[in-house]
Amino acid sequence: MAPKWSNALQRKRSRYGPLPTTEDGVYVPSHRDDPSRRRRRILYAMMLAAFTFILFFVAWTRVGESSPRPATPCDSVEEGYICEPEISHFWGQYSEFFSVPSKIDDDVPDRCEITFAQILSRHGGRDPTASKTARYSAFVSELKSNVTTFKGKYAFLNDYEYTLGADQLTTFGEQGMVNSGIKFFNRYRKLASKATPFIRSAGQDRVVQSALNWTQGFHAAKTSKHIKDSAYPYNILTLPEDIGFNNTLSHGTCDAFENGPASEIGDDATSTWQSVFTPPIKARLEKDLPGTNFSLDQIVYFMDLCPFNTVASPTGKVSPFCALFTEAEWHEYDYYETLDKWYGYGTGNPLGPTQGVGWVNELIARLTHAPVQDDTNTNRTLDADPATFPIGKKNNLFADFSHDNDMSGIFAAIGLYNNTEPLSTTEVETTHETNGFSASWTVPFAARMYVEKMKCGRGKEEFVRVIMNDRVIPLQGCGVDKYGRCELSAFVKSLGFARSGGLWSQCYA
Ligand SMILES: *[C@@H]1O[C@H](CO)[C@@H](O)[C@H](O)[C@H]1NC(C)=O
Ligand SMILES: *[C@@H]1O[C@H](CO)[C@@H](O)[C@H](O)[C@H]1NC(C)=O
Ligand SMILES: *[C@@H]1O[C@H](CO)[C@@H](O)[C@H](O)[C@H]1NC(C)=O
Ligand SMILES: *[C@@H]1O[C@H](CO)[C@@H](O)[C@H](O)[C@H]1NC(C)=O
Ligand SMILES: *[C@@H]1O[C@H](CO)[C@@H](O)[C@H](O)[C@H]1NC(C)=O
Ligand SMILES: *[C@@H]1O[C@H](CO)[C@@H](O)[C@H](O)[C@H]1NC(C)=O
Repeated sequence: MAPKWSNALQRKRSRYGPLPTTEDGVYVPSHRDDPSRRRRRILYAMMLAAFTFILFFVAWTRVGESSPRPATPCDSVEEGYICEPEISHFWGQYSEFFSVPSKIDDDVPDRCEITFAQILSRHGGRDPTASKTARYSAFVSELKSNVTTFKGKYAFLNDYEYTLGADQLTTFGEQGMVNSGIKFFNRYRKLASKATPFIRSAGQDRVVQSALNWTQGFHAAKTSKHIKDSAYPYNILTLPEDIGFNNTLSHGTCDAFENGPASEIGDDATSTWQSVFTPPIKARLEKDLPGTNFSLDQIVYFMDLCPFNTVASPTGKVSPFCALFTEAEWHEYDYYETLDKWYGYGTGNPLGPTQGVGWVNELIARLTHAPVQDDTNTNRTLDADPATFPIGKKNNLFADFSHDNDMSGIFAAIGLYNNTEPLSTTEVETTHETNGFSASWTVPFAARMYVEKMKCGRGKEEFVRVIMNDRVIPLQGCGVDKYGRCELSAFVKSLGFARSGGLWSQCYA
């Protein structure tokens, strides 16, 4: 098997228009009065206007705290998916990308210039996987055969037909990737105006399609600034996900992780939590829907139907399934998915971080323009060839496309969430308590981690910074500064786990 080069097809899209703006009322003074009275009236009127404005502003911010934001736009380039934020940001990895709050300003600090940018991206919104879509479909028929008439907020189920596909990117998912390409170009405009990104993708169809749509957005943003882009359509190096192919964008070759005890830790954690949070939901649903008797798995399937029907809508219109569950229940669901990422693939799994080691060693090579040094899952043939792994000084823009699980291992190999305590499997923890870790904050659809290098003032050393869905993640173990950055050499030094092979020897023990 060899990796494939695919060519992006040029396709212009203009679906991303400007955000709607609100219109301000304009005060028109009367011309009848004498000048001094007129001035006084204007003064009073201005005071009144200012007072009214303050009142409105206070009311508006209060409203923003307690009730849903306007239902449109659900999707924008900068902020991501902001439809009914109370719940749509709590769908775990089935949330659509949204701009995650950051304690540290993610703007490039003054007097600094970006010299390198790498995006590691998840594919966009997709249909359920093939095995899940079969289970959801069976669940819906079972439910509909047990309940003859659905009433109230369940009434939509009378006409609902299960029509979701399997595994593929949805139209809304494609748009999320186009948006990501635009956003990336705009953030790194100075660098991106001159450079063409070097692009790799894990081999599954939806990932390659995501990469392709991302290039469309990047290219559209570039040409909209009247910059020539003769390299477009860009090459995409596709790395097969087949077992036996060393692929840093897809796990599978570490035996103990795939088949040993480590492979069960994630499932154990989620089933413990499932047995805590789903029974009250089951009781409520069975009371609402006489004739039903749900398994605990079916409660999760019922909830899954909310995000999947939402991303199946071309505009990301929130599905009526979503309203069947309370906000607190969505937090519990989000936490269920968080536990899966943490204990299944991330820092909470003894071999999770090991799966990300190969990619981190490739990152070091890219950051330092030195050959890859790795004995884990890198493909030595590909990484030794400048055509498939360029590391020259001019190569400073990279885009890699992968999956949520693989990205979770990579975050863990960098040590981004090393100061998060082991997660409870019996009580929801907020992102405040988990130090910023949750499935929806790290690996939603179209998730993106940026690793950027910057040069500042007359300082000799470049800095490295990591930004996770717009949230600056302060680096650890390398003398982090107030911007969340470390100097390049200190950052590389802090990656000792990856540089020393990160427990790979346990893969075949
Ligand atoms: C994504 O790419 C495909 C293939 O080029 C294209 O048909 C589709 O229109 C793109 N999607 C969007 C939202 O631009
Ligand atoms: C490594 O990549 C080469 C070149 O594409 C390919 O022929 C080979 O099968 C790959 N081997 C492994 C183990 O990944
Ligand atoms: C439907 O009813 C059957 C027979 O009572 C029961 O075994 C099954 O668990 C029910 N399923 C659902 C989803 O209510
Ligand atoms: C629901 O199904 C379970 C498992 O099949 C069964 O043990 C239980 O008795 C059923 N409950 C009702 C109320 O039918
Ligand atoms: C693939 O990875 C294994 C394990 O590290 C290694 O022994 C093998 O040489 C690698 N193959 C290639 C082509 O890189
Ligand atoms: C994160 O923790 C692991 C395990 O303790 C350790 O090996 C690694 O060096 C840490 N990484 C950082 C960046 O602190």
